[in-house]
Formats: sequence, C-alpha cells, structure tokens
Amino acid sequence: MADMRVELAGLKLANPVLLASGILDSTPGILARMADSGAGALVTKSISLEPRPGYAGPTVAEVAPGTWLNAMGLPNPGLAEFLDEFDLQGGLVPVIPNLVADTPEDFGKLAAGVAGAGAKLAEINLSCPHPRAGWSGLLTAQDPAAAATATAAAAAHLPVIAKLSPDVADIGAIAVACAEAGAAAVSAINTMPALDIDTELERPVLGNAFGGLSGPALLPIGLRCVLKAVRALRDAGHAMPVIGIGGISSGDDAAKYILCGAQAVQVGTSLGGNPERLGEIAAELGGWMERKGYATLDAFRGNALEWLP
Ligand code: FUM
Repeated sequence: MADMRVELAGLKLANPVLLASGILDSTPGILARMADSGAGALVTKSISLEPRPGYAGPTVAEVAPGTWLNAMGLPNPGLAEFLDEFDLQGGLVPVIPNLVADTPEDFGKLAAGVAGAGAKLAEINLSCPHPRAGWSGLLTAQDPAAAATATAAAAAHLPVIAKLSPDVADIGAIAVACAEAGAAAVSAINTMPALDIDTELERPVLGNAFGGLSGPALLPIGLRCVLKAVRALRDAGHAMPVIGIGGISSGDDAAKYILCGAQAVQVGTSLGGNPERLGEIAAELGGWMERKGYATLDAFRGNALEWLP
C-alpha cells in the first residue's frame, strides 16, 4: 500500500487530501464524518472576530453543470461562538481554522484566539473574491505588501497558511511576499471572480452581483497558479509548501497538483452533499500511486516542473 503520510507546517497528516474552507463545514458533526471517511485534515469556514450575517440571496447558483458561482458574504457566528462550538484540539484529524479580517490587527487577534484554543495551524483568507470592506480596497492577496502585513500579524501567534487568489498578474510574487513575512505555507487558489446574468430578470443572478466561480473548470487555472508559486518560491530559495486547491474531483486531479509540486490539496465543490467523498478521493490517490509504482508522495512531487520551458 502506498504511504501517503505528509508533513504540513509541523502537522503530521495521514494523507494530503484536506477539506477546503466553506464546504460542508458548518457543524462539528459533518467535520467528524469527513474525518471518519479518511480526510487528511479539515479547514473550517472563514471566521471573523465579530459575527457576519452574509449577503442577501441568491448566494449560490449553478452556472454550468458542476460549475458554481457563490457570494455568501462570509457568514459566520464570530470567533467566540465558533470556539464554543468547535474543538480545535481533539478529533481524529487536525482541524485548521480559516480566518478572515479587514485589518492586520484583527488577523492578529483572530490568530491569538485560535492559538489560545489549541489550534496548531490556521489558514488566513486573503482572497475572498468580492470583499465589501477590504482594508486596502483590493483583495489583500492582490497586493504583496498587504498580503505580507496580514500574514506577519497572524504568524506572530501560530503557523499560518496564506490563501491566495488566482486573479493576480504574478501569483509567484505574492507567494514569495507571504513566505518572507513568515507564512508556513500558501494555498492556491480561492474561487475565480465572476458574474452571471439572468436574462429574464435582466439582472445579475446573485444578490451580491459578483461572486466566485468554482468547479472542474478551475482545475487548469489552479494547476498553473500552483506551478508558478512553487517555481517562484524555489527560485527565491524558500522551501515553504504550497497547497493546491481548485477543481479537484478525483484522486487523479489530486495527483496533478502534487506533480506540480503541491505538498497537499484541498477539495471543495466536488463534494456536493457527500462528506464521505473526501476519503474516497484520498483512496483514489493511493490507488493511482500504486498503479504508478510510487511508494511515497515525495517520489513524484514536482515531476511536472522539469518540463517547463
Ligand atoms: O462569500 C463567501 O463567503 C466566499 C468567501 C471566499 O471565497 O473566500
């Protein structure tokens, strides 16, 4: 049997297939089902210091088969209630809180809060595709200095994964800025900023108008971003890991990200209403490794990089 164990920023995981933030993660019970199914780790919905109600609906629409547009507006109960509800210390697999804030100071407070509750690693959401009260007026992940400042504020309290946007000219430069600010890892990509129009109502489909696109179409975009981030980090002399996200619906898709140099992957949209699918994707990755004769993830990680011009 292939050995899929992987280390991620000090955490030892049984396999590299993680739940992405914002999918099937609203209750501890669903997270427990995904842990039982064989997930490597679980990333929670984005948590802010104070509760956020989210946007008016519609907040989600299927714009092509399996392709979704969403603008939820980061609804969450706020840090205090989240910590009451979710156990960040126990559990079968690590739970990684995802944090969202409008200022570096608030990223610092959130990181201190989850570290105090036992989290060993947090993901910071620098890339919600439709922020309304962005601290810099841009997606934080579109500005290397803003991304670095937010990362440093959170990384002062615990190791952090900085979640990046595909909507940038040079994702490698943003990844390097996060590494130099003390990130333990970056994850790429968040959803792609997008829009759909209802031709009967002659208005945007979503209540917020703009949203983020997810689903299988994101896979080639995510692979490009991960490969560019991995290469930029290597060229700059940083060993920091990259986590691949976007369009993964099978073990074969997960293998593609690892071939591009990803340390681990996160899966979201393709889970649909089926939490157990996460463990199945991990098992499929193991099956792919066995068929290819790979005993460990290191044996094939980054193999696609040598083909770059
Ligand atoms: O609308 C939302 O809650 C989406 C957040 C994100 O993609 O980061």
